[in-house]
Amino acid sequence: MKLLYSHEEIMKKVKETGEQIGKDYKGKNPLCIGVLKGCTIFMSHLLVNIPTPVEIDFMTVSSYKHGSESGELKLIQDLDTVSAGRHILIIEDIIDSGKTLDFLHRYFETKQVKSVEVVTFVNKENRRKKDIPKPKYTCFDCNQDPFLIGFGFDYKERYRNLPNVYLMEESDFGEGDV
Ligand code: IMP
Ligand code: MG
Repeated sequence: MKLLYSHEEIMKKVKETGEQIGKDYKGKNPLCIGVLKGCTIFMSHLLVNIPTPVEIDFMTVSSYKHGSESGELKLIQDLDTVSAGRHILIIEDIIDSGKTLDFLHRYFETKQVKSVEVVTFVNKENRRKKDIPKPKYTCFDCNQDPFLIGFGFDYKERYRNLPNVYLMEESDFGEGDV
């Protein structure tokens, strides 16, 4: 694997992003919603850098993996919190095809929320298959076409706990299988 973002670089960006969110949401008590599981590491680091009160909750969205429905999303775990009347800030690890966010935007369209914005750790803009709004906050734009691991990103549920982000190289695929 090849190092893409070092832990130091990540901490700097996450801090800047958290501070900006703190300024923008001062007095708004946003509901920060993590999309599990990828969000966990980024979300924890981001939250401790937001210098204004926020609340948190989680959602799990997954794709049907069988037959012709492949790629279609379903809600596995819903919010505990009532979202109506709240400012929603969705916390994503990465925006790839945009299918997850497209699903979540549709979900909130029916919930009478005050606003919906997105903060993503990585944005792979050139991989979009869905026409979704640009995220309000992005830590890293990734315009290559690699698969990332570390700092929450997994390959077959491994590597989420690595402190840096790496590019998987051709020779790395399959290693998780043994
Ligand atoms: P979407 O295609 O925008 O819906 O993103 C779906 C999900 O795929 C993301 O939230 C990630 O969990 C996962 N994903 C996309 N690209 C990568 C990657 O490079 N490494 C690890 N997970 C990824
Ligand atoms: Mg995700």
